[in-house]
Amino acid sequence: MTTRHLLVLTILALCGLAFVAPSPTHVPQDLKPPSELALLMRNMASFMDTAKSHTVRGIDRPPYPEQFKKMKTATPTEGMVEHEVFDPFADFFLTTLDSYYKAKKKDRVQRYNALVQACANCHMQVCPGPLVRIKKMYVPLPEPIPTKKN
Ligand code: HEC
Repeated sequence: MTTRHLLVLTILALCGLAFVAPSPTHVPQDLKPPSELALLMRNMASFMDTAKSHTVRGIDRPPYPEQFKKMKTATPTEGMVEHEVFDPFADFFLTTLDSYYKAKKKDRVQRYNALVQACANCHMQVCPGPLVRIKKMYVPLPEPIPTKKN
């Protein structure tokens, strides 16, 4: 094979890739781009999915998600956040996050579920839409062994 052949093949391969790769100009867009807070919430939801699968499989927690501390300052969708209502729930969530990271191994499932509860508490008050998704984040605890009375 000559160098020229190789060159032609390389160009064909590159063009082929270019055809396969989706062009960014054709990606459908929402009418309004999501707010900074909405994007942060999406990260929080995928963090919880990862944390759940780690919990279920007995793997250590994912790295501490520092960016969640921006909750109270991230710009929300207009009209979505009243800080008087939102901020105490946000503080509670962040405290619960810290106790999940401080928890001993034996307490981690419970602390993880408390974190899901902290998501749900705020959502019940301010934005019920994602509750369906949030409720699926709980890790079921084993049934308590029935104890004999008397
Ligand atoms: C302090 C209140 C509060 C807490 C705690 C909270 N959220 Fe939210 N969440 C909101 C608000 C308000 C919005 C709407 C944000 C906007 O549109 O700007 C939202 C939006 C969302 C969305 C929709 C994002 C989108 O695509 O528009 C998801 C999913 C979500 N939250 C999941 C979670 C999860 C999972 C947790 C816990 C890890 C959590 N939230 C904790 C208040 C909260």
